[in-house]
Amino acid sequence: MKARAEAAIEDAHNKIHASSADALLAAERLDITLPGIQRPIGVKHPVLRVMDEIVAVFKAMGYSVGEGPEVETDYYNFESLNFPPNHPARDTQDTLLIAGQEHKPSRDRLLLRTHTSPVQIRTMEKQPPPLRIVIPGKVHRNDATDATHSPIFHQVEGLCVDTNITFSDLKGTLDHGMKALFGSAVKTRFFPSFFPFTEPSADVQISCIFCGGKGCRKCKNSGWIELLGCGMVDPAVFAFAAEKQPAYDPKKISGFAFGMGVERIAMMKYGVSEIGQFYAGDMRFLDQFV
Ligand code: PHE
Repeated sequence: MKARAEAAIEDAHNKIHASSADALLAAERLDITLPGIQRPIGVKHPVLRVMDEIVAVFKAMGYSVGEGPEVETDYYNFESLNFPPNHPARDTQDTLLIAGQEHKPSRDRLLLRTHTSPVQIRTMEKQPPPLRIVIPGKVHRNDATDATHSPIFHQVEGLCVDTNITFSDLKGTLDHGMKALFGSAVKTRFFPSFFPFTEPSADVQISCIFCGGKGCRKCKNSGWIELLGCGMVDPAVFAFAAEKQPAYDPKKISGFAFGMGVERIAMMKYGVSEIGQFYAGDMRFLDQFV
């Protein structure tokens, strides 16, 4: 009796086990003929793409790439770039200060950098001349957002220092750079301007890439579009760098610097009319750059 009962139990057990395993296998059957899940591959954001393109143009001319911090001191953002304390030129930069820093000395007072120019001094303090460097980076300004302004945007800075660098070197370099970016038909022209850290300073305009210079709505019928700021490095800036690197003796060397807004160039290249499109994260916009 005992043996029969045990056999029956064993038998029942095996049956239950076998059927649940079969059911499981059947339920989890893998259809290997189904196509797999396609995960979209991300692409470079248009702003980053243009920034890389600008950097590549200058790399091809022998420039190396540098970087600096976004949280900067007053010293590097202003003072060493020849903005004296309380100078009105500081107002043009719409600086975002960090709370509680107002009364600290310039070298300790933290702010969000308003341009990539502070990396000029940082680089010169680390490296003696000759120097050819481009500095891509993010900058911050207390600007209201509109179609062409954003409180955070990107710049590419350039700095070239050696013996006998002249304004014609600056013109030649930027003329070539703009042709490499916008096509060889593009013309450049230089207008007197002012920056505390360059003397003389210039604004660079390029012939309108939309109408070829004939005049259209985009260039307000002038045929020209203003694109960047530049100039010969002010001797006072070299004097600040020379505190750490005496080779930056303004009597022995000269150089030029330039700075351009990446979003502005990206807007022109891709015909984007609202800067906010770059930051909205809207896939319908971004998908166009795949
Ligand atoms: N830093 C300047 C700006 O943001 C641009 C600039 C850079 C001008 C280098 C001259 C030389 O407005």
